Amino acid sequence: MKTIAVANQKGGVGKTTTSVNLAAALAALGQRILLVDLDPQGNATSALLASPASINDVGAEVTERRSLYHAIVGDTPATELILATRFKNLSTIPATLEMAGAEAEVARLDDHNKQIRKALGAIREQNQFDYAILDCPPSLGVLMTNALVAADELLVPIQCEYYALEGLGLLMQVMNLLREGGDNPDLTIAGLVLTMYDSRTNLNQAVQKDVRDHFQEVVFDAVIPRSVRFGEAPSFGRTIFEHDPAGQGAAAYSALASEFLKRQLANMRFIPPSVSG
Ligand SMILES: Nc1ncnc2c1ncn2[C@@H]1O[C@H](COP(=O)(O)OP(=O)(O)OP(=O)(O)O)[C@@H](O)[C@H]1O
Ligand SMILES: [Mg+2]
Repeated sequence: MKTIAVANQKGGVGKTTTSVNLAAALAALGQRILLVDLDPQGNATSALLASPASINDVGAEVTERRSLYHAIVGDTPATELILATRFKNLSTIPATLEMAGAEAEVARLDDHNKQIRKALGAIREQNQFDYAILDCPPSLGVLMTNALVAADELLVPIQCEYYALEGLGLLMQVMNLLREGGDNPDLTIAGLVLTMYDSRTNLNQAVQKDVRDHFQEVVFDAVIPRSVRFGEAPSFGRTIFEHDPAGQGAAAYSALASEFLKRQLANMRFIPPSVSG
């Protein structure tokens, strides 16, 4: 099992949308996927699991829902937290409200940056999944640092907006500190993906050019277009493949999944480059 953290400390850049739809696309391609929701907001969880309000017959399962928090701070084996979703090949460890307290509580533990890595160890051993995808919260807090220590590779969504590159330097710096400091010497980047791209605006085109000039082949060819369909899908608890299967958004995430797998097969990954200016 390879662990991929979908991370960018900037809020609202498409981390959760990318985690959910890439997970669904990879599962559809036959990869065995575990999506771990690390964000107390629980948006990935809502997309993959029916909410208690909308579906009555899973009510029992919902009350028992436990998050990775229960493996980190509690002593539940992470293997017992895994829930099936309505998708073949796609399971999840949901987020629960307790996750919000995890930041402070994990910080107090010994070896506090290695807690998620430790918790996922039991799952890694079982060889039940090809990929674990970690949907990270925004902010470079304890949970996100834990995700970076647990990850083999990082997938970084970048919104095609003016301040797109802002904060990426810090993210790369943190990655390099974890590599050099020995907390995760093998951490690499699977790729950067441009999200919410609107080809009609000059700004979006300029940002895309900037990011590609700077990061070159690290940037996936697949670009996720801006589409109102992405905004609608979560309110129905759907992936883009359910909400707008014939649309450009679904096609873009399918393309991203194929490109991701192609890179994986070619063992193509990147050392975090430095970002200056
Ligand atoms: N390609 C897109 N086109 C239009 N809207 C999008 C697109 N991708 C995501 N969105 C919308 O933008 C908002 C932010 O997306 P998302 O929740 O995936 O970002 P995030 O990085 O996970 O946010 P957070 O940092 O809060 O966790 C959501 O309302 C989502 O539906
Ligand atoms: Mg999110």
